Amino acid sequence: MVEKRLQALIGEWDGSLQWRYAHLANVAALLWEETEAINWLGFYLTDKEANKLILGPFQGKVACTEIPIGSGVCGNAAKLKKAILVPDVHAFDGHIVCDSASMSELVVPLIDSTGEVVGVLDIDSPMKGRFTEEDRERFQSYAKSISLALWS
Ligand code: SME
Repeated sequence: MVEKRLQALIGEWDGSLQWRYAHLANVAALLWEETEAINWLGFYLTDKEANKLILGPFQGKVACTEIPIGSGVCGNAAKLKKAILVPDVHAFDGHIVCDSASMSELVVPLIDSTGEVVGVLDIDSPMKGRFTEEDRERFQSYAKSISLALWS
């Protein structure tokens, strides 16, 4: 159901940055609406030259605008090219606090068809241990659809 709505949102992309952002904004709204017990959901996109992630479309409170690759949960997921599930953010060394309500976090990299990390999808919850392995797999599958549709 979500996958179908996701495909409908990102199915047509004209290759422009404006439309990429428009689609990501709608995807953030869709996933926010469809996901229970979260306080932040959004994208950080890779600035390759600066070796940073820059804030993209999101839902939730004001967040940090840039994260160096290798820092925090997001920067580590981008560096390692793998999803990171953090059951308790206070136990993650180097976690970057954007909203003090966040207790657990799931970050999934967006990887394009050439294998480059073009950004991450970050989801925060006010509940400890909110995210499951099933969530990790599901959001990884959304991330794959998003990156292949908007970065190919
Ligand atoms: N907690 C993240 C920073 C981004 S905010 O949660 C929106 C991190 O450690 O990378």
